[in-house]
Amino acid sequence: MEKYIVKGGGKLSGEVVVSGAKNAVVAILPATILSDEPCVIENIPSISDVTITLQIMSEMGAKIRMINKTTVEIDTRPLQNMPIPYEKAKLMRATTYFLGTLLGRFHSAHVSMPGGCNLGDRPIDQHLKCFSALGAQCELDKGMINLRADKLIGNQIFFDKNSVGATINGIMAAVKAEGLTIIENAAKEPHVVDLANCLNSMGADIIGAGTDVIKIRGVKELHGTTYSVIPDQIEAGTFMAAAAATRGNLLIKNVIPKHLEPITNKLLKIGVQVEQYDDAVRVIGGDNYVGTTIKTQPHPGFPTDMQPQMAAVLTCARGTSMVTESIFDNRFRYVDELRRMGANISVEGRVAVIEGVDQLKCAPVKATDLRAGAALIIAALSAEGTSEIYDIFHVERGYENMEIKLKSLGANIVKASEPDPNNEVSQKKAI
Ligand code: UD1
Repeated sequence: MEKYIVKGGGKLSGEVVVSGAKNAVVAILPATILSDEPCVIENIPSISDVTITLQIMSEMGAKIRMINKTTVEIDTRPLQNMPIPYEKAKLMRATTYFLGTLLGRFHSAHVSMPGGCNLGDRPIDQHLKCFSALGAQCELDKGMINLRADKLIGNQIFFDKNSVGATINGIMAAVKAEGLTIIENAAKEPHVVDLANCLNSMGADIIGAGTDVIKIRGVKELHGTTYSVIPDQIEAGTFMAAAAATRGNLLIKNVIPKHLEPITNKLLKIGVQVEQYDDAVRVIGGDNYVGTTIKTQPHPGFPTDMQPQMAAVLTCARGTSMVTESIFDNRFRYVDELRRMGANISVEGRVAVIEGVDQLKCAPVKATDLRAGAALIIAALSAEGTSEIYDIFHVERGYENMEIKLKSLGANIVKASEPDPNNEVSQKKAI
């Protein structure tokens, strides 16, 4: 078990390069299963969700070769259709993408109910609605989702809930189905568009990704591609929030500024300076922030995956801030941890009310999920004294070399091992 030890109080400064997008790559890697030729995927981040995805594909028989640290060649021709067990599915939510891609290629899929961040109830009814509409039989047996179809036939699907995962799964299942599939009330997130662009570069016929209606005309075959994953909107936003919280000055490179606009707008509103360039943003913190209101919304609204990090910034903004979470029903578990650091936050249902304090104080805290962990790092960097952040495996699921990048910006952060409480020897040592 590892933890971060963070001595706060310093301003971050310098330049940082953002890695490839986690939420895009976890869809694009399984999408190569639909290709009839090898694919080269560039700009992949070195995070544990990628390691797990590639490991699953390799165990199924795909030939995987790292060309360099950020480029992988994948040949899925030898891949066999095998069940994905609970031990793998519990590690990350994106294992659900194997449902769409295996169904699309083999007309059957067997994947255990997924894990991932605990953000409350995360049903998959819309994914199943889509698979059924395309002609698959869906059943749940002993925790496994089993899909089977004689053939997949295009259909019109209206999502009752705007869902990134169901939209991506719908696209993957429909790409090789017979005829036209129309997905209405589709998610518009940048990673949905990136997946569609990647599939189109393999010869798919997908139009409308990034709008409410996506049309997919099925094709018989997909060829190989060389495709570069988009930069990570949320990693970029996290560094923007870290610059703001530490009153620092950061040039954040390899970003798509348009994807950052909802974050940029909120930072400008509270008194942070943000300069936009073609593929970079500079964030310059100030000394006198004012509170604001934030409501998470599907893209292009304020992303739920930036809600905890912005809340960390708002803990020291003058006056009252209101943060409303409208996507997930349990995304405030990090609030207790921020309170341990002296934040004044109360939660009423889906609304967190933050009364700004002058300064956060160090404390031992625990990352309760991936973005919560990022929020605690931001809080610790701006706090007085040395904090310890536990359960950082959550952070490593989605941020490449977080502590190395932060160190290069002047942060006083180290990764250290802590004794495993389940291990008798280390328990004795700890006593
Ligand atoms: C994806 C992202 C996650 C982000 C979230 C919202 C990936 C790998 N993960 O998660 O980082 O926080 O989008 O932007 O890309 N819902 C249903 N039924 C369904 C599916 C979803 O009711 O079948 C609900 C969910 O409970 C939630 C909302 O729809 O309230 C949005 O969820 P969804 O967009 O599907 O999130 P994920 O794809 O799981």
